[in-house]
Amino acid sequence: TNSNLTPVMKINQDAADFYHRVLVTTRAGERGMAYAKKRELDKKTIDHFGIGYAPQQENLLLLYLRGKNYQDDDLVKSGLFIQSKSGELYDRFRDRLMFPLSDESGRVIAFSGRRLSNDKTEAKYMNSPETEIFTKSKLLFHFAEAKKAAREEKHLVLYEGYMDVIAAYKAGVKSGIASMGTSLTDEQVYMMRRNNRNIIINYDGDDPGVHAAERAVQMFKQAGGFNIGVVVLPEGLDPDEYVKKYGKDKYHSEVKGALSATDFLLKRLAKKFNLNNDLDRINYLNDAVKEISNISDPVQQDLYLRKIADENKVSFEALKANLLHEVKRNR
Ligand code: GTP
Ligand code: MN
Ligand code: MN
Ligand code: MN
Ligand code: MN
Repeated sequence: TNSNLTPVMKINQDAADFYHRVLVTTRAGERGMAYAKKRELDKKTIDHFGIGYAPQQENLLLLYLRGKNYQDDDLVKSGLFIQSKSGELYDRFRDRLMFPLSDESGRVIAFSGRRLSNDKTEAKYMNSPETEIFTKSKLLFHFAEAKKAAREEKHLVLYEGYMDVIAAYKAGVKSGIASMGTSLTDEQVYMMRRNNRNIIINYDGDDPGVHAAERAVQMFKQAGGFNIGVVVLPEGLDPDEYVKKYGKDKYHSEVKGALSATDFLLKRLAKKFNLNNDLDRINYLNDAVKEISNISDPVQQDLYLRKIADENKVSFEALKANLLHEVKRNR
């Protein structure tokens, strides 16, 4: 029952039902449905994620909720309305595809709405403001469901965007979650660690995505206790675009082939040097050894040292001596 929910919680839940019904069952929702089709969102996916549509017409949500006898001050606190100077309320979300954002136990606490058009003068995604129940830095999209799936899949997969989580879900990777945009927070890292210590980062394959993945790896390493994998998709694609272009099976292979955090960082490092130049190569090896010296497990240290030794045609022993020197310097 709803009896122990606060009004602000009930309002968000009722709004989710409203938006979903508008999308799925009404004339007013046809614009939203056409966009959903264009994004290849089928009925099952729309239901699983509770996707909805905020109609174009003014204040339909306001009328609906007033009809349910909510007080105006609670409606304001819900984050779903904008209040004019004279005190009047207006629906915040209009003509957007609505993604409900839920807390760890699956209760709707906020929304993100995507614009349907390509009109770049409007924000692509608009979020609820922070409220008494919604703190942006603590939200992980799809977390309640992903936690369950993670028990079988044995990992959580972290994405940049809602549409990526959804595309992965359709492709059979059901343990996907997303922070809001690329700015991962420590709170989100700890929420993940309490649940599953195997984490695969699959951000967009473009430059900002790869940089954000580097930053995320550092945050997980800093927090400690994670096994980290990183998937870097080709051609700058994001996971949604990748699945569309190459299909489910190829996407699964990409996830299976995730690089270890160390492999990923060493690859990124190598890109900063011209390895045809001896001096550059020496500098690269020094930096690579420093990176490897941060690994606490001696077996892993050995493995990566051997790898870069082979790749760069130097002896394992020389790199090992270098590493021991590095370790001593840092003690
Ligand atoms: P689609 O274009 O719908 O496929 O979205 P995307 O997920 O590919 O978007 P993008 O890679 O540009 O951004 C990733 C994430 O950043 C989104 O899922 C949002 O969480 C966030 N984001 C993107 N654009 C905006 C914006 O205009 N405002 C806000 N607040 N967040 C945004
Ligand atoms: Mn439904
Ligand atoms: Mn992006
Ligand atoms: Mn993207
Ligand atoms: Mn996308």
